[in-house]
Amino acid sequence: MENGKLIIKHLIGWVLISGFSLFMVSTEAASQREGKAIFNTTCFKCHLTGETGAPKVGNKEDWQKRASKGLTSLTQNAIQGIRLMPAHGGNDSLSDFEISRAITFMVNQSGGHWIEPLNLQTLAAPLRTGKQVVQEQCYKCHQTGKNGAPRIGDNLAWIPRLKNGIDLTVNSAIHGHGGMPPRGERADLTDVEIRAAIIYMYHPVDN
Ligand code: HEC
Ligand code: HEC
Repeated sequence: MENGKLIIKHLIGWVLISGFSLFMVSTEAASQREGKAIFNTTCFKCHLTGETGAPKVGNKEDWQKRASKGLTSLTQNAIQGIRLMPAHGGNDSLSDFEISRAITFMVNQSGGHWIEPLNLQTLAAPLRTGKQVVQEQCYKCHQTGKNGAPRIGDNLAWIPRLKNGIDLTVNSAIHGHGGMPPRGERADLTDVEIRAAIIYMYHPVDN
């Protein structure tokens, strides 16, 4: 029994850590354009109509098999070019990061549910830590467990919320859920800050 709990804790720790490294990786590039904007300036040329065999945006079948390769591998192919797909979609000014955002946009327009990668460097305001966000806002309900809010530091209350991965939980906090208002009633919080706040509430140490 105790062992089972420990294993679950380790698993969650691993999920959290791998989530962290994912958004650390995306800090390397330096542009702010969103996937949709990049698509509209460059990728649409072939991917809107499906010209020369390009997977067509909106066509689930075209994208499903390719999407199963995962974002890293698709991004790699789009950067290097693949058969009639030119390297960088023929636009050298696009960073690798922007390419990955454009791909996410196309996959999501075609039946996928990927979260657009975030770029910490481009966020306008300095990032608040998870602890700061929680102390400014989330504590209002999560300190006492108001209306069933999982309490800060109450591991057992958080584990079932996190069991399908941190991304889904972040998404749920962004959109709201039962008594949980969208973004905890703070529209100015970025996705990264919401994520850090959740990690802090699961395990309240500075992050
Ligand atoms: C000049 C036409 C053209 C443009 C512009 C273009 N693509 Fe493509 N793309 C293609 C074609 C053709 C394929 C199919 C290649 C194949 O698999 O034979 C493709 C395939 C892809 C794939 C699938 C790769 C794989 O591994 O299956 C991705 C991802 C992709 N494009 C991303 C992009 C992005 C992002 C942009 C914009 C930055 C872009 N493309 C712009 C023609 C284009
Ligand atoms: C007005 C009260 C209130 C505030 C403020 C609030 N929450 Fe919540 N939160 C709740 C309640 C109530 C629930 C339980 C909702 C349910 O599952 O029915 C909840 C649930 C959650 C969940 C679990 C969602 C899920 O899918 O299981 C997360 C994550 C969360 N809150 C994050 C946050 C973050 C981050 C903040 C601060 C930015 C915040 N909350 C601020 C009331 C609040």
